[in-house]
Amino acid sequence: MKLSNRILNDIGNKYGQSFYILDSRQFITNYEELQKAFRDIYPNSHIAYSYKTNYTPKLCKLVDQFGGFAEVVSDMEYNIALKVGVMPKNIFFNGPYKDSSAVEELLLAGGTVNIDSDFDLQIIKEIASKHPENELSVGIRCNFDVKDGVVSRFGFDVDGNEFITAISTICEISNLKLNGLHCHFATRSIETWPNRAEGMLKLAQDYFDEPPSFISLGGGLYGKMGESLKAQFDVEIPTYEDYAKAVAPQFRDFYKGLDISKQPMLIIEPGSALVGDAMKFAAKVVSIKDIRGKKIATLAGSIYNINPTLNKKNPPITVYHDENCENRQLEYENLDFGGYTCIESDYLYRGFNGKLAVGDYVVFDNVGSYSVVLKPPFILPNFAIVEYDYESNSVNLIKRRENFDDLFHTFEF
Ligand SMILES: Cc1ncc(COP(=O)(O)O)c(C=O)c1O
Repeated sequence: MKLSNRILNDIGNKYGQSFYILDSRQFITNYEELQKAFRDIYPNSHIAYSYKTNYTPKLCKLVDQFGGFAEVVSDMEYNIALKVGVMPKNIFFNGPYKDSSAVEELLLAGGTVNIDSDFDLQIIKEIASKHPENELSVGIRCNFDVKDGVVSRFGFDVDGNEFITAISTICEISNLKLNGLHCHFATRSIETWPNRAEGMLKLAQDYFDEPPSFISLGGGLYGKMGESLKAQFDVEIPTYEDYAKAVAPQFRDFYKGLDISKQPMLIIEPGSALVGDAMKFAAKVVSIKDIRGKKIATLAGSIYNINPTLNKKNPPITVYHDENCENRQLEYENLDFGGYTCIESDYLYRGFNGKLAVGDYVVFDNVGSYSVVLKPPFILPNFAIVEYDYESNSVNLIKRRENFDDLFHTFEF
């Protein structure tokens, strides 16, 4: 059974008028397809899911169940990983600002911390001297030019003295083990991917006597999207296979002849590529106005629910008409969907053409990444997340709607 206005209303009546709809099957399909694309070329490829993109515990747990790693960038995310049962050895701690006690706990438990700066190095040096009997696993974040036109602020400039000093400091400390190299570049452009592999393999050769246990190429991959969304990008959207073909053959050739147990793990850290199309957002039409000829519908939802980075793209939408008021539906041209906030620019979608009436539901597709995790507590707390099972027509609550107390119990009244 597909979604309908009645089903959406039933969910809305129970969990709050607007809500996110999670599709964990799509998430799993994406995970398996992406992993396969890389493993077909370089079998020792692994996925470390970028928690920050969408840390819904169900998704984090699925990644763990499917043998993936957790890529976390704060003690908060580290605690999510622990809470969903991820073994510390499968946690990679990245990011420019790390809580020292979380770093200590993870290192002592066998996880890996990727050092981003001298700040991290000093924390880790102290931890190492406090626990001389423990071998601590670290990586180092490498920053080099991948020809994306950006001077990234993360990690160490591999051509600078600080990088060499950091590597020698790590090597001088007997209980620190430099297990791997990490990089991440925000650009999703496929052209930069071969440069990542080339740069990292060169560093592995220059700085390791034996192959490292991992080389992480980070995230920054486009996910799957419908044609209407693809058409809004000025580049061709690469497939998972395109990304794999851009880097995995270099790894395969570089480590040719080595037993797989000696080959480094090729780690990728996808967020958006796994979760983008695994979440929808359903919002009800609450009013339709005509302002000096401009048609505007207000929804019980906001751009901040689906696209808090305000990237100006129109997500794919489906309108579910209220079957009880079919005669009230009018045909509109170039109608904009506005949000519930008081910000003038809060539009979820521009230029809708078609039938619409108050009471209809608009369902926005491809809203899984950087949405629920970035939604500000502005004007309204966030809505529920549900999972709808089309086969059994049942609804599973993933996160209840936030309430007043969730937001205000930290304030003094
Ligand atoms: C270190 C690191 N890895 C992975 C990601 C995930 O990126 P994306 O969702 O673009 O794949 C990010 C995003 O900022 C990141 O900083």
